[in-house]
Amino acid sequence: MPETVLSEGLTTTQAPFVESIRRTGQLFIHQPYELYSPENHRAWRNLYSRMVPRWRAYANDHFLLGIDNLALPEDAVPRLDEVNRFLKPLTGFQAKAVSGYLPAFAFFDCLRERTFPTTITIRHGAKLDYLPEPDIFHDVAGHVPMHTDRAFAEALVRFGECARTAAELSSEIADEHLRAQRLTSIIKAMARFFWFTVEFGLMRSRNELKVYGSGLLSSFGEIQHAIESSDVQRYPLQLEWAINQSFAIDHYQPLLFVVDSFDHLFSLVDRLEKWMREGKLNNVAPGEPEVNEADLLSFLNARL
Ligand SMILES: [Fe+2]
Repeated sequence: MPETVLSEGLTTTQAPFVESIRRTGQLFIHQPYELYSPENHRAWRNLYSRMVPRWRAYANDHFLLGIDNLALPEDAVPRLDEVNRFLKPLTGFQAKAVSGYLPAFAFFDCLRERTFPTTITIRHGAKLDYLPEPDIFHDVAGHVPMHTDRAFAEALVRFGECARTAAELSSEIADEHLRAQRLTSIIKAMARFFWFTVEFGLMRSRNELKVYGSGLLSSFGEIQHAIESSDVQRYPLQLEWAINQSFAIDHYQPLLFVVDSFDHLFSLVDRLEKWMREGKLNNVAPGEPEVNEADLLSFLNARL
């Protein structure tokens, strides 16, 4: 490999290795560990070390146990193979490197198969706080420790099964326009549910509020804000609310939902699927997130 590529690192939006693969359309890749620059490892170390006290204060116990069980390195970007060696025996989940964004059906269907599509690039060391794209810190330090918990893992797999149900139900609709309209609404409902649980969920734990959503678990500022700020509205998760609630991704969330346990979360996913079958997700409230063409096509063309 030429020296110039080796020295360029795997920084978010500045990783020639990943970008050249993405242009070929290949989604699943390997993690070329030797390409991480000293600056990339430093970014991981800084992100990780400042989160540790916040995790101890605000994260749920299952996450803290997960961090211990995975033996994540504090001083260097983790190797996915190493992470999986600890993770797979616990719940069957595995982190799998991807070149970028996966269309919605492919992403959810991976969860059904206990595979978590994982970004391998890491944010620039000068921009630790905000980045619109996921990176390996969000995916591996924010999501993967949750996958060590059996009850949470089952809820995630069940959610993946809902995507398949959605594709199956839509394949039975003859009218193309109606099929696309209903599927768009169902994808929107699923994306909102995912957002308010897996990404930004709170849970009650021994009479305290704790964080289990990975968007919060990987954010130094928002994890504290989510629990302590009086600007945040926190309500018990009601399915009919969450699936009709829009959200914006570019600021701290003003509204968060609370579950009692991961068994509770699982029962909500079950109900999500039941409502899908009953047609209750066919016309959810308009608004964010918008469902893009690639996401819709991924469901329409799903191999069932
Ligand atoms: Fe995420």
